[in-house]
Amino acid sequence: MEVLNASESGAVERAAGVLRVGGLVGMPTETVYGLAADAMNGEAVARVFEAKGRPSFDPLIVHAASAGQAWGVVASEAGWPMGWAADGRAYEAVMGWAERLAGAFWPGPLTLVLPVREGAVSGLVTAGLGTVGLRVPGHPVARGLIEAAGVPLAAPSANRFGGISPTQAPHVVDELGGRVGVVLDGGACERGLESTVVGFGSADGGLVVEVLRLGSVSVERLEEAIAGRVRLRVHRGTSRPAGSGAGVESGAEAPPAPGMLDRHYAPRTPMVLVDRMAEVPGGVDRLAAVCGLEDGKDAGRWGVFFSVPAGDGREDETVMLSAAAGFFERLRDLDERGYDGIVAVRAPAVGLGRAINDRLERGALKA
Ligand code: TXA
Ligand code: MG
Repeated sequence: MEVLNASESGAVERAAGVLRVGGLVGMPTETVYGLAADAMNGEAVARVFEAKGRPSFDPLIVHAASAGQAWGVVASEAGWPMGWAADGRAYEAVMGWAERLAGAFWPGPLTLVLPVREGAVSGLVTAGLGTVGLRVPGHPVARGLIEAAGVPLAAPSANRFGGISPTQAPHVVDELGGRVGVVLDGGACERGLESTVVGFGSADGGLVVEVLRLGSVSVERLEEAIAGRVRLRVHRGTSRPAGSGAGVESGAEAPPAPGMLDRHYAPRTPMVLVDRMAEVPGGVDRLAAVCGLEDGKDAGRWGVFFSVPAGDGREDETVMLSAAAGFFERLRDLDERGYDGIVAVRAPAVGLGRAINDRLERGALKA
């Protein structure tokens, strides 16, 4: 495996060459590092699933260099499925909204789920769903790589399945070293949380945007962009949160929905969540019980993770942006220090704080 400095001449072109022959590239984006493959090459995409240890029912996001290239992956009016998101063949209505969202957030951390054009990408990318998640990344190196490869790139986050997402090139090496041909080092990811994934649906006879995964575009920002017609449909897992029934609230805030995506973004160290440190009930004994630590084991070493710094102003957008940017890196660091457990303090449930809390809730679920 080779790490190439993306700013060195020829590096992006070399990585594109790896993609063109069906290889995998660790790709910087503004959210997290992706594990990229030619989205049209089924064998290359299969290697992505294998390298991550990811189940094949979980679809990959397709990255395009421009909105024009992205729309090329979407079903045409003639191929548009009947009744998708709205009554009849609501192609114009849905695409009108999609273009508006793209205009507001692309290039950037918003993924749009739309009906896929037959044959545009490998069926493995979409897990046979008939829809595809699309985004134009904000990181210029990512767009340069897609352009140089000449094809849209399928790229999940470049971590082993279920683990903490990588926000720097060395994290990709730690997670996938040996399983990926080349990592393009484009520096630390500016946003630090994955893209917000949205689909479309109908309510009261009108279209709504459905948030399928909370992420770097806050729900408030989405509402601003499309005058309020946003609904949360975030999948919640069925596993019990580590804290439930044991005195530490799970605090799940998203509505229950059918689906999988339970334990995810998870440190190896057991983690419990609290809203404030003052709330830790019964101290270390209680926490040890919550985390299922064995009797007699020294449970005296706890790492404390302030997802957003304590104190005034923690709801401010700039404070939250910087907390989000360092979120996975700080959690990864803490995870490597050999603590018996991590006590993580939730973010305020506004703006990016909701995406941060979503990651914490999933990361705190027991395996
Ligand atoms: O910021 C990001 O989105 C990063 C960077 C690399 O772009 N990518 C990323 O990919 O987070 P991944 O594979 O870790 O998460 C993709 C998620 C899937 O698990 C699924 O929830 C959703 O996006 N998704 C993708 N295609 C979908 C589809 N057709 N329908 C519903 N959800 C879809
Ligand atoms: Mg991921």
